[in-house]
Amino acid sequence: MEKTICITGGAGFIGSHVVREFVKKYPHYRIINIDALTYAGNLENLRDIEQEPNYSFVKADITDAAHILSIFQEYQPDGVIHLAAESHVDRSITNPTAFVMTNVIGTVNLLNAAKEIWKDNYEGKRFHHVSTDEVFGALGDTGLFTEDTKYDPHSPYSASKASSDHFVRAYHDTYGLPIVLTNCSNNYGPNHFPEKLIPLCIHNILNEKPLPIYGDGKYTRDWLFVIDHAKAIDLVYHQGKNGDSYNVGGFNEWQNIDLVKELCRQMDEKLGREEGTSAKLIAFVKDRPGHDLRYAIDARKINQELGYQPSVTFEQGLSITIDWFLNNEEWLNNVTSGDYQGYYEKQYKG
Ligand code: NAD
Ligand code: TYD
Repeated sequence: MEKTICITGGAGFIGSHVVREFVKKYPHYRIINIDALTYAGNLENLRDIEQEPNYSFVKADITDAAHILSIFQEYQPDGVIHLAAESHVDRSITNPTAFVMTNVIGTVNLLNAAKEIWKDNYEGKRFHHVSTDEVFGALGDTGLFTEDTKYDPHSPYSASKASSDHFVRAYHDTYGLPIVLTNCSNNYGPNHFPEKLIPLCIHNILNEKPLPIYGDGKYTRDWLFVIDHAKAIDLVYHQGKNGDSYNVGGFNEWQNIDLVKELCRQMDEKLGREEGTSAKLIAFVKDRPGHDLRYAIDARKINQELGYQPSVTFEQGLSITIDWFLNNEEWLNNVTSGDYQGYYEKQYKG
């Protein structure tokens, strides 16, 4: 194999698409997926590629520094693409410490392990940290986040991601570790865990349950199809400038209420329900504390420097996403009943 890349969080939503992209596109790379299989990690996401000769899975928790170092010593990765994280804002509000442990301490453990095995010989090496636009805080009605926007995180989730970004840059500035960062907008697509807005609403529409909209529903997010995020990570990993960060987005802002109405419209059409049926399920509920009003990415740098462009429009991506959920009801049932842990034990017993 020409190169070995450790991808952390590869069993999660975005990580599984990144693993698939790399395993398929680079048969001459050895891809090691390192994941703790928390509630959000699911090896079913990788069923179609798990037999590929250039793919391996290692169950490990990035908060375990000694285990991470031993894995890096064994596999000697040339590159690390770091996606493992606690990723849900609402969970960060109820249990912030878990976010500090995985997102901050876990990231520092990976940086230490990379620094240790690369031993200051950084030729051909790269640590790619995958982050979020939420580190920049909240926008008002106008403006966009650029790479130079000052960090101003508000939720425990975004504070932990901001901290991890700072550590990644600090290891570059202090030890010369070769790094790149990507800060991406909200993702959606196949395998999205149904705690986030879009898959939660798809699940609830299927089960004719209320669609909970926080506050007045006027909060705005900038949405990117997950496979387009995976392609951006591939591009930045290979061509991004050492030490730089790149904002990833598709200039695709939606107010939550409009997005959910579009989702309802497409679902009614696909399910053969009368128009307006699903929208009747919309229910305004208590707001999220500290809810950021608006996120919007200025994605000109990645476009102009690396030629990046998303491949699908939002309407197309949403349609692909709904079709995936309709065709994968068993996946949805498993993750919503907790059965996917059982899948792992069966698959890897002994
Ligand atoms: P996810 O919650 O779906 O998956 C996270 C994965 O990390 C899971 O497989 C989980 O098992 C694993 N993990 C969690 N804690 C771990 C630990 N201690 N050790 C090892 N593995 C652990 O998250 P996601 O939505 O796929 O996000 C992936 C990355 O992308 C995160 O770093 C997130 O901050 C970032 N990001 C997400 C979005 C988004 O819209 N979801 C947008 C921008 C950036
Ligand atoms: P979410 O998918 O949790 O992503 P993030 O908080 O990282 O942006 O939420 C997207 C938006 O949808 C956000 O403004 C919060 C809102 N939201 C709801 O209105 N209801 C819900 O049940 C959820 C989960 C989110």
